[in-house]
Amino acid sequence: MKTIDLLKARRAIRNYENRKVEKEKIEYLLEAATLAPTDRLREPWSFYVIQDEAKERYEELAKEFLLERFPTKPNLVESSLKVVSTTPVMIIVTSDLVIDDEDASEDNEYAVCCAIHSMWLAASELGLGFVWRTRGVGLVRDSRLHTFIGAPENKKIIGTIFLGYPDKEALNSMKPSKRTPYHEKTVWL
Ligand SMILES: Cc1cc2nc3c(=O)[nH]c(=O)nc-3n(C[C@H](O)[C@H](O)[C@H](O)COP(=O)(O)O)c2cc1C
Repeated sequence: MKTIDLLKARRAIRNYENRKVEKEKIEYLLEAATLAPTDRLREPWSFYVIQDEAKERYEELAKEFLLERFPTKPNLVESSLKVVSTTPVMIIVTSDLVIDDEDASEDNEYAVCCAIHSMWLAASELGLGFVWRTRGVGLVRDSRLHTFIGAPENKKIIGTIFLGYPDKEALNSMKPSKRTPYHEKTVWL
């Protein structure tokens, strides 16, 4: 497939079938991630794969977070928890912080973003549904997630990936992707 077609086909997919994702397919995504560009080959990414029993513990953490964050919105808490319980796999992606070098730490984050995008494209190629979450049940900015994955202090969480086989009905009812044409975003100097 041409790159432009793969890019056009990639979507954020948030509803999944109740079906396990094969380990080889998860590994394919992880391999794709490690091929991303990385300044001075620091390869700053790490991946924490959450399934089965670990996912049950993630659900507990998400519940704690949601009840704290939305104490007066039980329906939102319930629907958000359903999102977690119906997602077969989560992958937390971190970036290495470089001591006393803010620029390198920042560049590491850029590299990890590239890695996540590579995983997203690979998932699309395999027919897997994928979304990068930072807000809400992605828990990216909640320090408890850092403790949960047991990452060392020098790793910053960049994204929580939700992954699974797409729910066909939800997939068929998705609105087409909309983007502003590049010429409205470009200055030719
Ligand atoms: C850095 C980043 C954070 C995101 N966080 C969330 C999120 O917390 N929850 C969510 O549902 N989608 C999240 N998304 C997915 C976007 O909402 C999605 O890419 C956007 O709606 C465009 O849709 P498309 O990916 O299908 O083109 C995130 C995407 C990026 C790049």
